[in-house]
Amino acid sequence: MYQSMKGMLAKANAEGYAVMAINAFNLETARGVIKAAEEMDAPIIIDLLQDHVMSFFDCDILTKPIVKMAEQSPVPVAINLDHGHDIAHLKRCLHEGFSSVMCDASAYDAEENARITRSVVELAQIYDASVEAEVGNMGRIDDAGVVLTDDQMYTDPDVAIDFIQKTGIDALAVSYGSTHGDYPEGYVPTFHFDIVEKIKAATGAALVLHGGSGAGDDNMRRSVEAGINKINVGTDYMIAQREFVAHALAENPDYDFPTLMQDSWTAGIDTIKHYIEISGSAGKAR
Ligand code: 13P
Repeated sequence: MYQSMKGMLAKANAEGYAVMAINAFNLETARGVIKAAEEMDAPIIIDLLQDHVMSFFDCDILTKPIVKMAEQSPVPVAINLDHGHDIAHLKRCLHEGFSSVMCDASAYDAEENARITRSVVELAQIYDASVEAEVGNMGRIDDAGVVLTDDQMYTDPDVAIDFIQKTGIDALAVSYGSTHGDYPEGYVPTFHFDIVEKIKAATGAALVLHGGSGAGDDNMRRSVEAGINKINVGTDYMIAQREFVAHALAENPDYDFPTLMQDSWTAGIDTIKHYIEISGSAGKAR
C-alpha cells in the first residue's frame, strides 16, 4: 500500500508509537526496508536522502519501481525525500511520485524557514503529499569530522510551536540531543525529552527523531513516550550491510558478485526489524 506519511503518522500519534524511516539509496536497499516491514507487519517510510538521490539515483527512472514495490506491498509504505534543501529538486521529486518530502530550510532563520516551508506545504497539497520540516539544527559524524549536537543547536520549543501553527506541516524534526552518523565507540547521547514534551503538549503534532543510529534503545523508547512518531535510522542499516560484505569477502574472496550484492541488502533486514520492535510499530500495519 503506497501512502503519504500523513495518515501513517496520524495513526502513530493517536496510538502512541513511532513509524521507522530508513535510509535507502537504490532499488535493493529499498526492497530490504519493505521486506523488514512486511516481516514485522509494520508501516514503514523509505527515506531517500536528497544528496543520495542527486548523486546515485536517477529520479525519473528509479522512483517508479520503488513506488511499484510500495503499491504491491501488503503493509503501508511511504517514500520521503530526506533533508530536501534544494527546492527545485524537491519539486521534481514530488512530480516523479514521492508521497512525502522533508523541506529542510533549518539553515535559515525561523521566519525564512517558515516562509520556504509554507510554500512547499502549498505545493505538496497539489500532489496530496505530506511535508516534514526541521527547526533547530543537528550535528553530524562523517568523513568530514565529528560535530556533535550541542545545546546551541537544540530546537527552541516556542519557535517550533509557532512554526507548526504557521506552516501547517505534517511532521516536525526536533533537535534534542541526537547527531547524524556513527557515534564514537561507547558514546550514548543525552536526550532532552522536555523539549519534545513541551512541543507535543502545545501542538499535538507528529514529531521526528533524526540520527537514530546508535542513539540507544532506552533513548528511543523514552522518545516515543515523550511524543516522537517517526524515527530516522540510516547509518546502522548501511553498517550492517558493509560489515556483511567485509566479512563475506574475508571468508571467500571469490564470492559470486551478484550473490554478494543480493546477500548484502538481505543482511541489513534484522537491524531494521530491531528498530521496528523498539519503535512500537510492529503489528501496526492495519
Ligand atoms: P542516522 O544515519 O544517524 O541513523 O540518521 C539518519 C537520519 O536522521 C536521516 O535523516
